[in-house]
Amino acid sequence: MGNSILSTLNKTRKMKRGSSSKSSKSKENNNNRQNEQKQLQYYLPNHVKDTDIMVILHFLARYLFQSIFSAPIEHKFSQEDYKILDVGCGPGTWLLELATVHKFPKFFGLDLFPIYPTEIKPDNVEFTQGDVLKGLPFSDNTFDYVHQGNMLSVFTFEEWHSVIQELIRVCKPGGYIEFTEPELATNTGPILTRFYDALITLSDSRNVKIRISKEIIKILESSPTVKNVDYKIATVSLGTKKGGNAGQAYMEVHDGYFLNDPMPETMCKFMELSQEEYLKLFKDAKDEIESGVAPDCDLYRIWCQKAQ
Ligand SMILES: C[S@@+](CC[C@H](N)C(=O)[O-])C[C@H]1O[C@@H](n2cnc3c(N)ncnc32)[C@H](O)[C@@H]1O
Repeated sequence: MGNSILSTLNKTRKMKRGSSSKSSKSKENNNNRQNEQKQLQYYLPNHVKDTDIMVILHFLARYLFQSIFSAPIEHKFSQEDYKILDVGCGPGTWLLELATVHKFPKFFGLDLFPIYPTEIKPDNVEFTQGDVLKGLPFSDNTFDYVHQGNMLSVFTFEEWHSVIQELIRVCKPGGYIEFTEPELATNTGPILTRFYDALITLSDSRNVKIRISKEIIKILESSPTVKNVDYKIATVSLGTKKGGNAGQAYMEVHDGYFLNDPMPETMCKFMELSQEEYLKLFKDAKDEIESGVAPDCDLYRIWCQKAQ
């Protein structure tokens, strides 16, 4: 099973690299994104080159949970008028996988940047560029199911409150809202702990909560407009030693998080390290993992139903 995840990932990566090198439109989008990136408040990776790690994380979560979502909605997929929204959809992997298999629901994706496919996509998927922080461009009670995944470091804690209310607003009464979020690993060795401590302190100083899943649960449980809050946790050990192929895939996500721009520059300043020292220390952290310290990473699926 683990081998099949990795071969799916490898094929997907080859397809993505092949198609992006041919497209000048994609390069233009990339430049626009990098310009807009400079104006963004948050500091963690958000470039088109991060698409690879988003795709890996998608397939890894699907493998670990043995499903693409956890809310009880499977039986609704034969309804022609069922509407599904993915907020912060990135390259659209989650939506495209569902839309390829299911003919009927109408799928909608929204992202701040147009890194989703605009031409080659199933007919039942529509993508829109938009900023959830400025309000979703949809009326109240529009969607039967609203999904958002892997946004842990994107929003400040206050923003999470308003984003969650916005997702609830566009969901129909009785419909479902679902989140998938990875957590920072636990049981880390001393070197990786040094990275995590720096990241947590840096994030706290910007009011970004890196361990957001339990906070999402608390926000939902205290929201009078939703009911039946539920969650599942899937755990993977970082690195191949204990985690096998899944641990190796998660290691790639983890590497991307700490090594893709602008993270190294931000962390170097904060940890008072040169770029070389940072890269050497990160390599030491990986060696620490492969030498037997196997941190556990939890992925959360959290879902609830909008009250009638
Ligand atoms: C880490 S990626 C996750 C992408 C996708 N959900 C996935 O799991 O593959 C975060 C995504 O959120 C988008 N994003 C960030 N801020 C946003 C905002 N205010 N409104 C909409 N999308 C946003 C980014 O452009 C990026 O595609």
